[in-house]
Amino acid sequence: MQVSPQAYAASNTFQTRDALNVIHRVKDKYPDRTFNIILDIGCGTGKVTDILKDTFPTAKIVAIDIDPNMIEYCTHHSRHAHLNNPISHHHHPIFGRVTPPPVHAMEYILADFSRPWDDLPAALHAFEGQIDLIFTSLVFNWIPEVGNACGNIAHLLSPGGDIFANVATMLPTYGVAFSDPTVPAEIGETFNGIPLTFKYRFGSEEAQKEKWREELEAHGVGRVDIESLVTRWEIPQPEIEHNLVAICTSWYLKYLTAGCLDEKEEEEREKVKADMYEAVKAAHSIPREEIEEDVEDEVLDGDEGVERKVFILPRYVINATKI
Ligand SMILES: C[S@@+](CC[C@H](N)C(=O)[O-])C[C@H]1O[C@@H](n2cnc3c(N)ncnc32)[C@H](O)[C@@H]1O
Repeated sequence: MQVSPQAYAASNTFQTRDALNVIHRVKDKYPDRTFNIILDIGCGTGKVTDILKDTFPTAKIVAIDIDPNMIEYCTHHSRHAHLNNPISHHHHPIFGRVTPPPVHAMEYILADFSRPWDDLPAALHAFEGQIDLIFTSLVFNWIPEVGNACGNIAHLLSPGGDIFANVATMLPTYGVAFSDPTVPAEIGETFNGIPLTFKYRFGSEEAQKEKWREELEAHGVGRVDIESLVTRWEIPQPEIEHNLVAICTSWYLKYLTAGCLDEKEEEEREKVKADMYEAVKAAHSIPREEIEEDVEDEVLDGDEGVERKVFILPRYVINATKI
């Protein structure tokens, strides 16, 4: 299930709030630090990338995404993309038409961050050892290849450089299929009676966090601090709920072994997708009692009397520093 930039842009208010929360954490830790080069991994529509530029105006911002449609969208919709255009000009009340010198302040690169370092594009290799802040929000949950990602982080960060990652927790939506890491991934699972094959195991949220910690440390990125959080979004419009659930469903479908749906009849394939959608929707609506007191309420303004859907997003924020 591919999510178009337009659909994502129409429903990313909530994701943007979570990202802002992480940008605040950067500012809290480093109130006066100026960053030279910031990398935004999985920039999506570029909305948060623009906010990074607003927050750190002197920094060059490099943004990557695996989806060419997102990169294309960013280059046309970024509020700061004009900084890259040497022929852009504006009207000055005294000097008239002014053409500013080219400032290559924003750079968008098509790249799959789950690949090993040698497979990443030359445009990203060019920043090896030069990135002093890596920021990423709601992307690492798409990347089960944690070792590759941590290797890439280690290559890109400058000594003393920091990573701040906001990661959505993978929920045990499909029972044992995701929750028991001791069961080999290759063995078939049934989902609502339909045999499927899953590529990866996540384990509990603790296991997910430990994996990132271990791999970061193994690659020389230390002082790892990981905080668990839960956001509860109260959503007034059903179409926003639909978009959010569709985005989350696409993470889980990614963890099926490639081709395992292709062998099925169209009708059966659509049933798996529809059932997963319902399972994801249910998993994100269940209040997590045991951590209820940590829940941050996010209520969007809306018409009185509008029925609001609750969407729970357990997540964790990783901060680490290249030694
Ligand atoms: C939920 S969106 C988050 C976008 C943005 N960070 C935000 O907070 O609004 C996830 C983005 O990660 C991108 N993505 C997924 N897997 C990726 C990968 N392996 N490498 C780079 N980007 C990836 C997707 O294409 C999508 O644009």
